[in-house]
Amino acid sequence: MALNVVIMAAGKGTRMKSANPKVLHRLAGRSLLQHVLDAAAQLAQGDIANRTVVITGHGAEAVEAACAGSGAVFARQMPQLGTGHAVQQAVPQLDDAHNTTLILNGDVPLIRAATAQALVQACGGRQLALLTIELADATGYGRIVREGDGVRAIVEHKDASPAQRQIREVYTGIMAAPTALLKRWVMALKNDNAQKEFYLTDIVAMAVAEGVPVVTAPAATDTEVLGVNSPVQLADLERRFQRLQADAHLENGVRLADPARFDQRGTLVCGSDVEIDVNCIFEGRVQVDDGARIGANCIVRDAHIGAGAVIHPFTHIEGATVGAGSLVGPFARLRPGAELGTEVHIGNFVEVKNSTLAAGAKANHLAYLGDSTVGERVNFGAGSITANYDGANKHRTEIGNDVHVGSNCVLVAPVKLGDGATIGGGSTIAKDVPAGQLTVARARQVTLPGWTRPKKGPR
Ligand code: UD1
Ligand code: MG
Repeated sequence: MALNVVIMAAGKGTRMKSANPKVLHRLAGRSLLQHVLDAAAQLAQGDIANRTVVITGHGAEAVEAACAGSGAVFARQMPQLGTGHAVQQAVPQLDDAHNTTLILNGDVPLIRAATAQALVQACGGRQLALLTIELADATGYGRIVREGDGVRAIVEHKDASPAQRQIREVYTGIMAAPTALLKRWVMALKNDNAQKEFYLTDIVAMAVAEGVPVVTAPAATDTEVLGVNSPVQLADLERRFQRLQADAHLENGVRLADPARFDQRGTLVCGSDVEIDVNCIFEGRVQVDDGARIGANCIVRDAHIGAGAVIHPFTHIEGATVGAGSLVGPFARLRPGAELGTEVHIGNFVEVKNSTLAAGAKANHLAYLGDSTVGERVNFGAGSITANYDGANKHRTEIGNDVHVGSNCVLVAPVKLGDGATIGGGSTIAKDVPAGQLTVARARQVTLPGWTRPKKGPR
């Protein structure tokens, strides 16, 4: 059964002290709103799409642009006169064929799909279902007012009596409601309250008055219902989320040196016996195969690290493949299109871009390989580079198998080095090199007889 999903994202977020709309601030590499959209997307069943309506207001253009491709539609709320007023804006967009409407908050990013699903089930298109939680300090929240076991109303903190303020059971801001009733109720809201706002929460008393059952479902943890209102809260949720991800990897057998010093901003898939030292950052989609080890302070984005590979500390890897058993770093940089075969060695201060290195190739010190094809067992000497750019275009360097390039060479592309060639140190190679021979391209060394050093003259 398809749903309507309303995501409230019109608020300003003054306490973020930022020019950017609050819901576009990032948590684990994705905007707060994207987390909510992703959770909502997981509620889709089969191929029937839910109708997702995002309420925008502050920074509406930017927020709507950020949702492009999500399939969501938008309802603008200008000015912002409260949560009930926000849902009023969505009313024309709610599909009557979907008899349940789920309301989520754009600034409550870690809501789990399973929790939202349970709420939708509890609603069943017939009952008003509220997601609640018990808090030690409920200041600022709407309180769940009960009579006996039954919910009577939600009273906002600012409108609550001293006795009601003692209630610790609060509304999380997330509910599921029968669509037709929700539409009617929100259009009938009044703003005669402490904040002169249209409170969505007033529909609870309306449901009770009409004899529509109001049920509650508890959130599993506070983390999934915590909102972001300030940088401090954002940083707190970031650490909570990272800890959850780290714990999931530990459960799967990944050896994280310290789960508190681990950051995953995307997807990380690890094989067995993977070891990750402290302060590594994983972004985009990263796969690490069995037995690979990643040293401290590495940044790895959109990459595949093969089985048994060792990435030494302070290495940057982006858009690259590292073959099984390869050794990379410390202080190495693999840029997009770097494809290392098996047992390739890339040492300190070596940069590789858009280049394929076949099995056993080595570039151990201070080198640059760009737009190149490097054969098996090649040894690329310290300080050598491919000059791949002529100021206008990029050109390829092709290095055959078993080539030995000495130190401090410049290979001026386009250029080809035949199998088994040896290049003398300090050579500038601008023409193709034959296989199996020594090629040297540098000035011959001379010693000048009778030369004397200049002496300092009088001042
Ligand atoms: C709301 C609930 C309160 C609940 C709390 C949980 C109401 C009246 N109160 O209070 O019971 O305990 O959330 O966090 O609903 N928004 C709009 N347009 C508006 C006002 C708000 O889009 O005109 C959006 C905000 O951007 C935010 C969400 O709605 O994402 C909640 O608004 P907020 O002002 O934070 O409501 P609270 O006062 O916290
Ligand atoms: Mg709030």
